[in-house]
Amino acid sequence: MENLISLVNKLQRACTALGDHGEESALPTLWDSLPAIAVVGGQSSGKSSVLESIVGKDFLPRGSGIVTRRPLVLQLHRIDEGREYAEFMHLPRKRFTDFAAVRKEIQDETDRETGRTKQISPVPIHLSIYSPNVVNLTLIDLPGLTKVAVEGQPESIVADIENMVRSFIEKPNSIILAISPANQDLATSDAIKISREVDPKGERTFGVLTKIDLMDKGTDAVDILEGRSYKLQFPWIGVVNRSQADINKSVDMIAARRREREYFANTPEYKRLAHRMGSEHLGKMLSKHLEQVIKSRIPGIQSLINKTIAELEAELHRLGKPIATDAGGKLYSIMEICRIFDGIYKEHLDGVRPGGEKI
Ligand code: GDP
Ligand code: NA
Ligand code: MG
Repeated sequence: MENLISLVNKLQRACTALGDHGEESALPTLWDSLPAIAVVGGQSSGKSSVLESIVGKDFLPRGSGIVTRRPLVLQLHRIDEGREYAEFMHLPRKRFTDFAAVRKEIQDETDRETGRTKQISPVPIHLSIYSPNVVNLTLIDLPGLTKVAVEGQPESIVADIENMVRSFIEKPNSIILAISPANQDLATSDAIKISREVDPKGERTFGVLTKIDLMDKGTDAVDILEGRSYKLQFPWIGVVNRSQADINKSVDMIAARRREREYFANTPEYKRLAHRMGSEHLGKMLSKHLEQVIKSRIPGIQSLINKTIAELEAELHRLGKPIATDAGGKLYSIMEICRIFDGIYKEHLDGVRPGGEKI
């Protein structure tokens, strides 16, 4: 039995493949209704580092300026054994085992869409990673919030990024992973500022505090981590990612996770919070949460899917059968996925999955 997280990701991919976000169709609504975790934060707050720690791999483009210019829908699939590999939706038959090549392909695919203008584009890149070191999880990496345009970038980029980020996190089904660096005043955090706007009660925002190791001597993050500085419904999570010096020395990600664990376990202020700190805990907790949210939204997704199937059938009819066109093939595959979801929903009503596992 497929897990729900990966099934929802298939629906997301199908929506992108069909690529008719703006049109008069149920698809954009379907995409909007699918629960997803969006990663938000200011530039250099540590977003890429957090994602890489969750994955346990070094694979995201780095550098100064606005590096992430298209949403990256990152789906993690846990496999029991074997070598880890990655696949892009736009290169369906290519398996990447070299993660430096994954980084390069993200950059190239970004440029293909934005034409090297350094503009941003809302069309997502879909990347799947299969590894024994990950939990089943889908995360959407978004461009970093920034205050000034850099050379070669249009002035409007600051507002464009903010609007794009907002369009993802304002959907009531989105889960916000808000990244703030501990070595800056939380009151100035871009992540908190924008997430507060769309989720004032903090009901679907997870606060992540990075760079705890970089705080001034004599200060600590306990007030933030215990929710006294900015209260959210879920507990705050502190992380210690690789420093720039570690990255330059190519410190291994798995070794970095271990060092992070030791940091929290051995720092007197954080010892008693250690069990709920760190990137490994963050990944596990998000995976569990995402699955719960999807389960609770199944009935709503289901009714939209019925509507979508009906519309797709009408669309197929309009195209005429037999369908030789690419669009026809895509419509068929999204219908197939919708039907699988439909099956799951019916099993859900019976309370048991086909495998016998209670849901
Ligand atoms: P992004 O722009 O939000 O994606 O930020 P990055 O993940 O690229 O991080 C920006 C810089 O901060 C890099 O040089 C990282 O090595 C560094 N960095 C991120 N998180 C931490 C952390 O927890 N501790 C330390 N010491 N450095 C960090
Ligand atoms: Na920030
Ligand atoms: Mg980044």
